[in-house]
Amino acid sequence: MKNFILKGDICYSKTINEICCSENSCLICENGKSAGVYREIPEKYKEYEVYDYSGKLIMPGFIDLHIHAPQFAFRGTGMDLELMEWLSVQAFAEEARYSDEEYACRAYGLFAQMLRKSVTTRACIFATCHVPATKILMDCMEESGIVSYVGKVNMDREAPDTLRESDAYQSADDTVKWLESISGKYKRTFPILTPRFIPSCTDELLSELHKIQEKYDLPVQSHLSENPDEIEWVRKNVPDSKFYGDAYDRYGLFGRGAKTVMAHCVYPVIDEVERMKENEVFVAHCPASNMNLSSGIAPVRKFIDNRIKTGLGTDIAGGHSISMFRAVTDAVQVSKLYYRLVDNTVKPLTFEEVFYLATKGGGEFFGKTGSFEEGYEFDAVVIDDGLYPLLEYMTVRKRAERVVYIDSEATGLEAKFVGGEKVV
Ligand code: GUN
Ligand code: FE
Repeated sequence: MKNFILKGDICYSKTINEICCSENSCLICENGKSAGVYREIPEKYKEYEVYDYSGKLIMPGFIDLHIHAPQFAFRGTGMDLELMEWLSVQAFAEEARYSDEEYACRAYGLFAQMLRKSVTTRACIFATCHVPATKILMDCMEESGIVSYVGKVNMDREAPDTLRESDAYQSADDTVKWLESISGKYKRTFPILTPRFIPSCTDELLSELHKIQEKYDLPVQSHLSENPDEIEWVRKNVPDSKFYGDAYDRYGLFGRGAKTVMAHCVYPVIDEVERMKENEVFVAHCPASNMNLSSGIAPVRKFIDNRIKTGLGTDIAGGHSISMFRAVTDAVQVSKLYYRLVDNTVKPLTFEEVFYLATKGGGEFFGKTGSFEEGYEFDAVVIDDGLYPLLEYMTVRKRAERVVYIDSEATGLEAKFVGGEKVV
């Protein structure tokens, strides 16, 4: 039974505008779910084992809504290119290596180990188009203790021969083989349909994927409106779609029946925002990637005001850091540049807002996760911030902000729980 209590300085989001903080308090885990935060242990939980993290911060686990596992090995290199060139020079060249299972074992093993030691408790992950390597990644993720969606990538055009799938039908066949081979195999690792982005996917492929989505009732992840050249490519080559997102929606791969997360959304047109809202498409805002690839600054305030479901992603290796603390800081900072340099009527994001996006906002993609409200999956990280001066003079709220900003690689991570299981 996953019944226990964490004692410490607790902070979590209930709404987007407020972080609830409770010093020296108890967080109850009952059957792998939160049973709430209390000052004193209620009578009915008195028998539960107590993990004493007094003086340390306890936060919900962080949700990485967008990350490419096969790009982990070369993160932090080739950062002087824009998206389309970066893909062909950096990303595709590296991803082609994953036809080699031995390489995949090594690189994915390291990736999963690093993610385990981070503050991330749940993630939406791109693999490559290779089925054996994707299964290796799923094995590694299962072992990490993190809950994840993992996607075999589909791409049948605009990629080198070493990586591109020969046609839509082979890509779809491989996807079905992959799904059949992992059916029922994992407890915490789930498949997600992953058409790479519109330039990589022909209409025939999207149409085949739609059938697979319906048959297997799969969620979907992809990229949307990230870079001006990419958007222009879609406008020219898919002239029938009203806007970029419409090119997915025409094939039922843009929310509605299919739970969908789209990374970036830096340049959404008004109709696109409305369609995303109507279809309940999630946005994965990836600020580090948007900076590194000179993509731009996503209008996150617009998503929040329009009640579009939004979370954060690291987008390794467009983003160079696996740390969701870093993603939070970056999101606040780029919103300030947006305010100052792009539109001074758009207020910068607050720490409260971005903490919410990184936990409860993105967590909604996984169900009731990312908060300590009663009934939420018990995902928690314990952070020792004792290294930083004069904590006794600071509120829990201030300490949370400080540790996210200063300890960007989360070196103070002392423990991590996912679904009530201790994984670190
Ligand atoms: N668009 C299509 N593929 C990719 C990728 O691997 N990274 C990023 N940032 N954007 C993409
Ligand atoms: Fe990406």
